[in-house]
Amino acid sequence: MAGAAGLGLGVVALTGRGETDSDPDATVAFYGTHQAGVATTPPSSAAFVTFDLKPGTTRDDLIGLLKIWTGDAARLTHGDPALADSEPELALRPARLTITVGFGPAVFSVADLDDRRPEWLQPLPEFTIDRLQPAWTGGDLLLQVCADEVTTVSHAVRTLSRSVASLVTVRWVQRGFRDAAPGATPRNLMGQVDGTVNLVPDTADFTRLVWDDGATQPWLAGGTSCVVRRIAMELDTWDEIDQAGRELTVGRTISNGAPLTGTDEFDEPDFTAVDAHGLPVIPPSSHIARAHHTHDTERFLRRGYNYDDAPGPGQISNSGLVFVSYQRDVNAQFLPVQGRLAEFDALNTWTTPIGSAVFAIPPGVTAPGGYLGQSLFEAH
Ligand code: HEM
Repeated sequence: MAGAAGLGLGVVALTGRGETDSDPDATVAFYGTHQAGVATTPPSSAAFVTFDLKPGTTRDDLIGLLKIWTGDAARLTHGDPALADSEPELALRPARLTITVGFGPAVFSVADLDDRRPEWLQPLPEFTIDRLQPAWTGGDLLLQVCADEVTTVSHAVRTLSRSVASLVTVRWVQRGFRDAAPGATPRNLMGQVDGTVNLVPDTADFTRLVWDDGATQPWLAGGTSCVVRRIAMELDTWDEIDQAGRELTVGRTISNGAPLTGTDEFDEPDFTAVDAHGLPVIPPSSHIARAHHTHDTERFLRRGYNYDDAPGPGQISNSGLVFVSYQRDVNAQFLPVQGRLAEFDALNTWTTPIGSAVFAIPPGVTAPGGYLGQSLFEAH
């Protein structure tokens, strides 16, 4: 399955920024030092599924569950049906399927491994902008399933959920999408080019800022952390502001995402530039001025997806961003930026975080026979 098409995609993926062409036969390698689905150029469709462990789940149950997920993820991502696949035909178009597994705090308490829980693995502090709903918050296990075909994602989610249904219950499911021409940065549902300033896979910065090196928790070497925030957008009131207002809110143009001090999307913003009246060209209150790192360590990989769910009573739309970030240390990298945005960000008028979760992403499985989380459960 991984033939020439897969190799071609690899070349595009090296840029780490833009989207790729979709090819139903293309596969992303499951085995490796790192789990796929982090450095992988994001496919167009995703589902984030979290599970709660049923009361009484043991360490051995968890290991059993992870062995099932490992085997089935290896098969499905290769374009082969899972072991007990009820619709094996749906496995035949992998479309760059990746399956990424994360651990919430409960995994460590259930397995009696609290001394191996990374310090940052806990719910984020409450921010004043948050309106978190329990139905979109937390979770003991995470499955991030991404592919270029929605049917592939749906089948993988159902297959992986069904095979462990005796041990877990589904807590929340969020589906998302992102589309752009190959090599281009996608737009979010506010119409902004979103994902320009980001860590680029296969660079020294990416390795240093995303992948854990095992210095504090040896079992986590090759792993990382994942923050998921479900952020609702008030598109009806966003409609009321004109283009200039929209651009000042973010600090970038709507047309091509260039900073207000530049002409091309990837121009470096100049936060010190002032106009003829002495006013900053990029407002200090704009999203990029507030989100821009003030220290080298305040950087992370953003890998979010748009969502557009069924509107509730009286709503026209129920849309937003599944904000997803990967970083080696949530506390050092993500929290200072989120803290600044919560304090002030012009975008906050139209955005509200309503879900939040943090997961440890264990390293990848390097060869058949191993299982996800093995380094956590087996003594060093
Ligand atoms: C619905 C909510 C959000 C929207 C619509 C949004 C949109 C955007 C847009 C359009 C950009 C500029 C283009 C780019 O560089 O990608 C951007 C940049 C950025 N955003 Fe957000 N964002 C949201 C939430 C967040 C959150 C929660 C965080 C982190 C806590 C964040 C962190 C960043 C960072 C670090 C940048 C790059 C800043 C720089 O230029 O250095 N964003 N975002």
